Amino acid sequence: MRIALYDPDAGYFAAPELRSEKGGDFLTSPEVSPMFGESLAEFVRSEHDRIGDPFRLVEVAGGSGSLLRPLLDVYPVEAWAVEVSPPARRRLADLVGAGRAVADLGEVPAPVRGVVLANELIDNLPMAIAQLEPGGWRERWVGRGGDGLAFVDAVPRPEVLAWLERFAGEVGPGAWVEVQLAAYDWVVDTLSRLQAGSLVLVDYGDTTENLVPRRSDGTLRTYRAHHLGPHPLDEPGATDITADVNFSALLAAAGEAGASVRLQRQDDFLAALGLRERISELRHQELDRARKGDEMERLRVRTRRSEAETLIHPRGLGDFRVLVATVGEPAGPE
Ligand SMILES: C[S@@+](CC[C@H](N)C(=O)[O-])C[C@H]1O[C@@H](n2cnc3c(N)ncnc32)[C@H](O)[C@@H]1O
Repeated sequence: MRIALYDPDAGYFAAPELRSEKGGDFLTSPEVSPMFGESLAEFVRSEHDRIGDPFRLVEVAGGSGSLLRPLLDVYPVEAWAVEVSPPARRRLADLVGAGRAVADLGEVPAPVRGVVLANELIDNLPMAIAQLEPGGWRERWVGRGGDGLAFVDAVPRPEVLAWLERFAGEVGPGAWVEVQLAAYDWVVDTLSRLQAGSLVLVDYGDTTENLVPRRSDGTLRTYRAHHLGPHPLDEPGATDITADVNFSALLAAAGEAGASVRLQRQDDFLAALGLRERISELRHQELDRARKGDEMERLRVRTRRSEAETLIHPRGLGDFRVLVATVGEPAGPE
């Protein structure tokens, strides 16, 4: 994953085209509806009220800017964008200013007081793979095999074993588990830069306990054009490689970094920020336009409403998880 996704020449994220748009490989909450960013603006506002100035917003992995744009429209605040993809960074520079669209979190002046946000970042961070054999855990490295790449058996490294002990759960024989060491380190490192405020991570995945039943073959997969793509080893550099995020590990990392943490479903998180009220307001507007015979405007409002409803669909995006790690007092509305 480190090479296939992040190599500066051949990696998937180094490509000259933008990956995270409706025409790209994945369709994310902010791409589905501007009301994702608008709702998060309320979270940012409440954190700003709580900790005061100086305050800045940092979005990591902002893609096309579809989260930041509506957020800043509702709540303009100093914003920084951290993106590895050059075309995405150029797009984000239009929103935050050239000097504030950077490739690495280390380029954002520290310590940060404010909110650090990332939607669908953690699922891309490089993972190790382990399989439970009768004699115990083995690692699966990537090596040569046949005409291309293959998983290669290896003795597990101590840090991999330590992670498995804490976060693999009661998996059965033969199970594959993605060992999310980089995600753990990323959370600890990011929180070490946050002096006051919150880190908000939104992604697919679950706690160890709930991931175990999904586990037998692991959850490593690729996406292409909004659908499952080829096997992760088949076309390195040409597919988005990802896996379900283990939120138990992220909660532990945030706790270790001294933050107070909460984990919610996306539908509950957005509801607490007022999204359901905004949807019912749109429903009223729709009826009003229908009564006035303004069909074009009624359709426009209906589209906006149905996009917003997609964000809280209980078996779709609503089932994503939101981790809020707060430094200082408890964050925002519950
Ligand atoms: C699935 S897309 C999500 C984009 C956007 N957050 C959204 O929800 O539409 C993943 C994005 O993360 C960026 N990315 C991946 N790893 C990153 C990292 N370590 N730091 C910053 N950006 C990263 C990629 O370039 C890509 O734009």
